Amino acid sequence: MLVGVPKEIKLSEYRVGLTPSAVGEYVAHGHQVLVESGAGAGIGATDAIYRAAGATIAADASEVFAKAGMVVKVKEPQLPEWKQLRPGQILFTYLHLAADAPQARGLMASGVTAVAYETVTDARGHLPLLAPMSEVAGRLSVQAAATALQKATGGRGILLGGVPGVQPGKVLVIGGGVVGTHAARVAVGLGAMVTILDRSLPRLRELDDLFMGRVVTRYATRDALAEEVAGADAVIGAVLIPGAAAPKLVSRKMLGTMKPGAVLVDVAIDQGGCFETSRPTTHLDPTFIVDGIVHYCVANMPGAVPLTSSAALNHATLPFGLALADKGLAAIAADPHLRNGLNVHAGRITHKAVADSLHLDFADPDRLMAA
Ligand SMILES: NC(=O)c1ccc[n+]([C@@H]2O[C@H](COP(=O)([O-])OP(=O)(O)OC[C@H]3O[C@@H](n4cnc5c(N)ncnc54)[C@H](O)[C@@H]3O)[C@@H](O)[C@H]2O)c1
Repeated sequence: MLVGVPKEIKLSEYRVGLTPSAVGEYVAHGHQVLVESGAGAGIGATDAIYRAAGATIAADASEVFAKAGMVVKVKEPQLPEWKQLRPGQILFTYLHLAADAPQARGLMASGVTAVAYETVTDARGHLPLLAPMSEVAGRLSVQAAATALQKATGGRGILLGGVPGVQPGKVLVIGGGVVGTHAARVAVGLGAMVTILDRSLPRLRELDDLFMGRVVTRYATRDALAEEVAGADAVIGAVLIPGAAAPKLVSRKMLGTMKPGAVLVDVAIDQGGCFETSRPTTHLDPTFIVDGIVHYCVANMPGAVPLTSSAALNHATLPFGLALADKGLAAIAADPHLRNGLNVHAGRITHKAVADSLHLDFADPDRLMAA
């Protein structure tokens, strides 16, 4: 199959659909890869590096969209991109269609077969193509907190790890899933005192085993939350209720109980945020202060580290992408996890939750593909 990689055109997006290393894997499977000139600039991968990996370089995106049997991207296609998609072509990328009716209608009109990274599942019912970005955001969240705690950025003026004779900072992680676990790991590595709150007792047991006494785990009752928030130097918001907006766990009133210059990092901001006073920010202007508390609420945290993020994303997408390239639509028919990723096919929405969110008709993918 001819696999196409256009340059990402969404604002401030520096990741790339296929890294040179992934290109090498597709080529080894006997596929041709067509990469738009400059697509890898954000990760320092020049056209020459892509050529050395076995790709052919296209002068512009229109050549990629016109020739590719499968288009591999990172972000959801933008308007000029939907217009170039066509029936018989596979699109493999993040889509986040549930809250994006114009894009959904654009993909339906194009006739493309669109497989969304965020709804592909694994045998444990997890979302394996979302996890790497949660890992990146979790680890980055503590770096963000450490910077925001510095005096010049409005913080308390605390070094998270302390020094001999001076106590370290207190980090509270709310939600001990993928983001929360990786945040805790980095905070522990820096030498901070770390507490994780979660509403899942099985998850708290796993975390207790994992960290071997190096973090405190606490069940997230309202009073435990209020007590921990008041004592923390940095709070990492990492909760997720699948398919729902994040619950507002820290109210504006609670900010008054916190230490002046303490920091809130709302990783869940992409789901609306879990602090009442959060609003989305960007990497160019990541923080703001409310009632003396520094807020960091960047909605696309992995975009800050495109080299790491592109590699991590490619490692997760590679087996699914190769299956699609090797077998085309038959790969979707054969693999229930890939089929869960199918969001649009032959002009219809093929994912139940996406169809329900958009108030559009759901088409059963098995019946549609058999037709
Ligand atoms: N801002 C970004 O760039 C970025 C990047 C990646 C992920 N995220 C977001 O980070 C959030 C966490 O993602 P994840 O992959 O870690 O999810 P996850 O499902 O792995 O973990 C969520 C955890 O939250 C816990 N939880 C749910 N409600 C709770 C409550 N009321 N109190 C305490 N714990 C509660 C769950 O039990 C679970 O352990 C999501 O909103 C995700 O969209 C944001």
